[in-house]
Amino acid sequence: MNHNAVPDTTSFDDEDHNTSGNPSFESVLDARLSRRSMLRGTVGTAATAVLGGWSVAACGGSDDDAPLDPNAPITKLGFASVAKSIEDRVSVPAGYTATTFYALGDPLTAATPAYKNDGTDTDFENRAGDHHDGMEYFGLSADGTQRDVNGSVRGLLAMNHEATSNKGSDPRSYYLHANGGTLNPRPVGEADKEIAVHGLSVIEVRKTAGTWGYVQASAYNRRVTPLTPVEITGPARGNALLKTKYSPAGTSTRGTLNNCGTGLTPWGTFLTGEENWNGYFTRGTADNAARDARSVASLNRYGRSQGAASRHGWETAGSADVYARWNISKTGVSTDGTDDYRNELNGFGYIVEMDAYDKTVALRKRTALGRFAHESAAFSLPKPGKPLAVYMGDDSRGEYIYKFVSAANWAASDSAPANRITTGDKYLDSGKLYVAKFNADGTGQWIELNMANALIAAYATYAFADQADILVNARLAADAVGATKMDRPEWCAVHPTTGEVYYTLTNNANRRVEPTGSQQALDAANPRAYRDTQLDNTTASSNSPGNVHGHIIRLAEVGGESAAVGFSWDVYLFGAESTSTNSSINVSSLTADQDFSSPDGLWFSKNTGLCWIQTDDGSYTDVTNCMMLAGVPGTVGDGAKTTLTFTKADLTTMTVETYVGKKPAADTLKRFLVGPKQCELTGCAETPDGKTLFANIQHPGEELAAVADILNPARFTSYWPGNAGYQATAGNTTSRPRSATVAITKNDGGRIGT
Ligand code: FEO
Ligand code: CA
Ligand code: CA
Repeated sequence: MNHNAVPDTTSFDDEDHNTSGNPSFESVLDARLSRRSMLRGTVGTAATAVLGGWSVAACGGSDDDAPLDPNAPITKLGFASVAKSIEDRVSVPAGYTATTFYALGDPLTAATPAYKNDGTDTDFENRAGDHHDGMEYFGLSADGTQRDVNGSVRGLLAMNHEATSNKGSDPRSYYLHANGGTLNPRPVGEADKEIAVHGLSVIEVRKTAGTWGYVQASAYNRRVTPLTPVEITGPARGNALLKTKYSPAGTSTRGTLNNCGTGLTPWGTFLTGEENWNGYFTRGTADNAARDARSVASLNRYGRSQGAASRHGWETAGSADVYARWNISKTGVSTDGTDDYRNELNGFGYIVEMDAYDKTVALRKRTALGRFAHESAAFSLPKPGKPLAVYMGDDSRGEYIYKFVSAANWAASDSAPANRITTGDKYLDSGKLYVAKFNADGTGQWIELNMANALIAAYATYAFADQADILVNARLAADAVGATKMDRPEWCAVHPTTGEVYYTLTNNANRRVEPTGSQQALDAANPRAYRDTQLDNTTASSNSPGNVHGHIIRLAEVGGESAAVGFSWDVYLFGAESTSTNSSINVSSLTADQDFSSPDGLWFSKNTGLCWIQTDDGSYTDVTNCMMLAGVPGTVGDGAKTTLTFTKADLTTMTVETYVGKKPAADTLKRFLVGPKQCELTGCAETPDGKTLFANIQHPGEELAAVADILNPARFTSYWPGNAGYQATAGNTTSRPRSATVAITKNDGGRIGT
């Protein structure tokens, strides 16, 4: 779903449940950078048969084995910026080729039939899921038998399938059904398909004669769905809050849900963040009376007040347990919840770890990292003898930025462990969880969430029972300590040499110059609120107030230490429309070659050091579809303290001081890709040689005007990738649109961005 700045009461992806009244806090701290360089080896060799690969242009890419230069960051972007576009296609710079190779429904076993894409396909447990999202690349040796961190022509892609397109409160995922589907009660067959398109994929990918594709019959291929058994680990394992009919011991649950951002561990596993999972569950209109006050407070804070409807109505498909679990009302008579699904919601909202190389290993939900609407999980630069930090964000309006610091110190030998998932136990099951406060003077503080904090121990809104309770209800603990309410933290990423941490703050429809009710006032770290100047929305009155275009904030830990409790910060970039002449809106002075709105995906290339920015926008879409940009970032503090000015209702002005990074030059920020209609760009990964960039095109054509329009292809709002010739006739205007993966290579075989 598009992440519009406009509040949308029917959107399951634009949550807003933070009504806490946090105080301000001041602290003065210095911060300094640390610098490291990454060492790399050589790449593997080309492999053989590939299925599914298809390119948008003739490709001259090579499979050469040139040694990598570990000290060659790109300092000036070498490509010509791609123009903004509302065409229904993928645009990349001259000299580059984008190859589409893994779209919704593509088969993952030799026996699975080709996807017909007419709503009659089944067996999605053996097909690509929907709404491709975050993604990580895992290199393979040339013979395919083992992990090779330098493998650049053969590897695995692990990715999220976040959601499936439906309209507002209409539960039907219309593109998956021949006639658009059936309203509640949902037929079993429809519910089964919609459930199975969620979760994760692992696919083997290979480059043959310069063209990427996935291997349909690879033994590595795997689908994880909302029904796959998953272990619960860390401090909340076995806690009373996790006990369900499925797992009376509170040690496991089924599946992972609404997976958005990802992470790559230093030991070679995949992390996935569960984001807007709450919307899939329904709760009875009188359920409050059946629960205690703490349970009700928790459910309300996590977006499931009594009477909440579920996104897809799967609980209406039958009495079988796989449908009943989507109703989290207290229906049983037990005192501990082991005869119903009253606690089912507490099994979601985690960072989940998967060993992409071994599909026999169960996934593990890492409760030590806290429960909220997770996006990506980005590691500090591993330093032997020091703990690892994992940076994370909570994507809802006015939610927080978090970090986890491992109890274990990093051992370099763990970069190639004998057992990857138990290495995850070592680093991710015990440690400290912190939440961020941003101060007006350009510093910030990490506040540990534990019972030793008097604000938590004495919190009047919610009486925490123990540390597991603090982790499961991390939002409430963060409220208690007065964390800074941010403009929807999306992905975070760590710069590969400086270790500085970047966060996209995508937009916030609740930020105001003069807030009322639960709206948020301007502060130094979230310093803009204004009205969109273009009529992107259907009526002027709904025309996007708030932080319309979002920004990218970055932090430098004090002393460059992962365990630091203080940091300094500034804003790397402010999203804006380049036609804006207001320097308090277009603060970063973006030009037409650089302007963007609603940054979401964020990722650094370890090979080139480039910062990749992906958008999920609803405020500039009258001018351009969503996009990817490449940036050459500087460092925290390379810009200037800046005063922004906004007009109040009585036409007097108010000012806000913030810290703005050095403004981008023409060759340090450029638009690299524009996607097809109504998509978002998300998921970014590269081969270790820096010569292939993978990205996901999520939900092209997601805004079908009416479900009945599924029977009238002329009304489809996108035909991609079928219209580009992927498993269909090029130029057609009949194909149902599909989320898909693209591989981008440079025609001269060079590194991406040069
Ligand atoms: Fe799934 Fe917050 O984006
Ligand atoms: Ca996102
Ligand atoms: Ca606009």
